Amino acid sequence: MSGILDGKRILITGVLMESSIAFHTAKVAQEQGAEVILTAFPRPTLTERIAKKLPKPAKVIELDVTNTEHLDRLAGLVRDELGSLDGVVHSIGFAPQDALGGNFLNTPFESVATAMHVSAFSLKSLAMACKPLMSEGGSIVGLTFDAQFAWPQYDWMGPAKAALEATSRYLARDLGKDHIRCNLISAGPIGSMAAKSIPGFTELADVWNTRSPLAWNMADPEPAGRGVVALLSDFFPKTTGEIIHVDGGVHMMGA
Ligand SMILES: NC(=O)c1ccc[n+]([C@@H]2O[C@H](COP(=O)([O-])OP(=O)(O)OC[C@H]3O[C@@H](n4cnc5c(N)ncnc54)[C@H](O)[C@@H]3O)[C@@H](O)[C@H]2O)c1
Repeated sequence: MSGILDGKRILITGVLMESSIAFHTAKVAQEQGAEVILTAFPRPTLTERIAKKLPKPAKVIELDVTNTEHLDRLAGLVRDELGSLDGVVHSIGFAPQDALGGNFLNTPFESVATAMHVSAFSLKSLAMACKPLMSEGGSIVGLTFDAQFAWPQYDWMGPAKAALEATSRYLARDLGKDHIRCNLISAGPIGSMAAKSIPGFTELADVWNTRSPLAWNMADPEPAGRGVVALLSDFFPKTTGEIIHVDGGVHMMGA
């Protein structure tokens, strides 16, 4: 059976648990014919254990996206395994506890800086670390949570996502000449580890129970994963700097 990622080699960050959007992205990517390599944080053993649940085996490489040594050695390690890349998935987000959950006005800059480094600047770091492997062009896809709005509890992850969204546009601008596209999926709430670390996340997610035109299931990360796979495929050949909402339609509702 042919798939929309047949013959494509894809690097996927962010597989931590089965609830990770990246896990479902990797699963759908393999089902669609891709050869997948995973990166792991904080420990490869965790990701290796979850990777066993994928339809096909996937090699795991350690990557703390704020660690320049890890970033510098990434291309060499991936080249040894796959030779080159057609796509890269950034599925990474983190903010310290004092940057979340209603502490917006008191968060120290150090915590804001960490959120920005891990959640936004890292898209540029990852793109540049992988660029030497995409000499034939490629597709970079990240995950955002709609940064147009001030959400309850989300606090400094909001400005971090706004920075991620802008970073994606600037990458799209600067990498277009190399035939590399950069796009984001703006996902609705999913009950992953990252989400559970936000105090009061269910209050935020509750918005989807009343405002989503399409029924939204927080326990199902697959729709977001399918969106990522679509952007990795050849079916968006002239789309870059774009944000596609996989949020049940909440983004366009007035009330
Ligand atoms: N869960 C949601 O409601 C939701 C909604 C929209 C967007 N997103 C975004 O989707 C992406 C994936 O999150 P998820 O919900 O699947 O949660 P998750 O907890 O499964 O994934 C977050 C990932 O970030 C990784 N990470 C954290 N710090 C890192 C570092 N220094 N280096 C490398 N990796 C690091 C973790 O290892 C983990 O795999 C994030 O960007 C998140 O903000 C999530």
